[in-house]
Amino acid sequence: MSRPINLFEYETLAKQHLQLMALDYYRSGALDEITLKENRLAINRYQLRPRMLVDVSQRDLTTTIAGQSLAIPILIAPMAFQCLANPEGEIATAQAAGSSGVGMVLSTMSTKSLETVAAQRHNTPQWFQLYIHRDRSLTQALVQRAEAAGYSALCLTVDAPMLGIRESDRRNQFTLPKTMELANLVSMVDVAIPQTREESGLFAYFAQQIDPSVTWKDVEWLQSITSLPVLLKGILRGDDALKAHEHGAKGIIVSNHGGRQLDGAIATFDALPEIVATVGDKLDILVDGGVRRGTDILKALALGAKAVLVGRPILWGLAVEGTKGVAHVLELLKDEFDLAMALSGCASIKDIDSSLVISVK
Ligand code: FNR
Ligand code: LAC
Repeated sequence: MSRPINLFEYETLAKQHLQLMALDYYRSGALDEITLKENRLAINRYQLRPRMLVDVSQRDLTTTIAGQSLAIPILIAPMAFQCLANPEGEIATAQAAGSSGVGMVLSTMSTKSLETVAAQRHNTPQWFQLYIHRDRSLTQALVQRAEAAGYSALCLTVDAPMLGIRESDRRNQFTLPKTMELANLVSMVDVAIPQTREESGLFAYFAQQIDPSVTWKDVEWLQSITSLPVLLKGILRGDDALKAHEHGAKGIIVSNHGGRQLDGAIATFDALPEIVATVGDKLDILVDGGVRRGTDILKALALGAKAVLVGRPILWGLAVEGTKGVAHVLELLKDEFDLAMALSGCASIKDIDSSLVISVK
């Protein structure tokens, strides 16, 4: 295949570069993958109402999220185990984020340490995604290290008290190759993704290590041990969004974890309007799940999100061509978004308002 010209072609090409266990882990959603598919369908149920005869000769894509400036309203979603796609893993991803002016969220479960990844930072925000482990002192140490390394926000993932069942991971008895490790944790505790029979090693890891008793009190606990802004990732309801605000979160990420947790959960672009109506003036709202086109970003912003996170396409780019592949994925998305703004009569992000989009359900 010649060089991909869109994110879907990256997915097709990446399949030739990945071992089955890695490909299945990256691609899959929970159970029947209904939510995974619904994320895309929901985006396509919206239509744009472009405005004509606006001077769009100069376009400004810059924005501010949680007080931090971004060249484009895109962040790379936190995704575990990026060394399965390329030996440089999260380091390669961070380099591409930096050179593309895109923010990056590093997963707790990265295969390169948070300090090594932080060293790749340019002028773009790097945030750290947190899983609260049963061992609170370990969790606290992670937060302190992220702060010391210069991460500028924490994303607490709230939709995974236990891991969703991904059936292909179960079939493959998913685990990490011996050459890869939980790079953020191994320097502090002796942990690894176990080798299991008839289930995913990651599922078993979550059951053993991740704290399923986390509640709103712990959101306050987290803020008591850090000065970094906290965003909650995985909110799908207006009342939870309001609680996020009441408990001091600076932002939320409307997310269903890319359809990997509760199958049958609402698509993120369907959840967004209620959440924006409830807390749009109180919190920064971000969204992820199925964002593959520049027009998807335009729809997200028109619906009231301030930025999007992009997940799997980054892994496809990484698998195909390392840093260059990720940078190209981001460039394609940026160019499509820039054009979508021009064709809809928006010269700057603040011109993207709710009148640009309608639901055609
Ligand atoms: C994820 N996601 C995720 N989220 C999180 O909070 N911590 C994590 O470690 C991971 N790991 C992870 C691994 C892989 C392989 C995938 C595909 C996803 C969820 C991720 O941050 C994001 O919410 C979704 O991937 C967004 O959907 P799309 O863009 O992949 O459709
Ligand atoms: C996943 C976890 C690690 O989705 O968040 O695989």
